[in-house]
Amino acid sequence: MTTITLVQGDITRQSADAIVNAANSSLLGGGGVDGAIHRRGGPAVLADCRALRASRYGKGLPTGRAVATTAGDLDARWVIHTVGPVWSATEDRSDLLASCYRESLRVADELGARTVAFPAVSTGVYRWPMEDAARIAVAAVRSAPTSVEEARFVLFDERAYEAFAAQLR
Ligand code: APR
Repeated sequence: MTTITLVQGDITRQSADAIVNAANSSLLGGGGVDGAIHRRGGPAVLADCRALRASRYGKGLPTGRAVATTAGDLDARWVIHTVGPVWSATEDRSDLLASCYRESLRVADELGARTVAFPAVSTGVYRWPMEDAARIAVAAVRSAPTSVEEARFVLFDERAYEAFAAQLR
């Protein structure tokens, strides 16, 4: 049974077996969580991402999928990169967002990671409404068949924290 915990803060300051990155399909970095993880994780993370692009993910990581790299200088063993869907008012992409969490937990299980820190995927640049994203994220983690002991949502601000707390009440 996975315990879900909430923390308000910077995910790059977390200690966990795996830290999940809200990446884009290029895996070559960006802003938000992606920028912070590469900044604090250091060049080893990008080097691993480039190796993935040169091998298994020649066309990039598809939306909803997850892949692990070294965590570099972060206080973690791995970074699990996942690509969230961009919010759409006309197309329901909820299952792609849920897949980010399911697939990240599946990769965590393959690695033997016991504690996984998640950001609120897709709720920044990709504009997914926070409340709906929290609902999808918590439901996906709760229903995932995983050996991960702690799934820790690390929320950057009070509004995000409250949105997730409401889902746990
Ligand atoms: N720690 C925890 N949460 C953070 C941090 C941080 N250091 N920085 C930002 N966040 C929060 C944002 O406030 C938002 O709620 O993470 C959530 C996700 O926002 P983004 O990082 O913008 O990710 P996303 O919306 O999934 O967009 C992904 O943005 O950075 C680029 O390369 C990335 O193209 C990709 C896109």
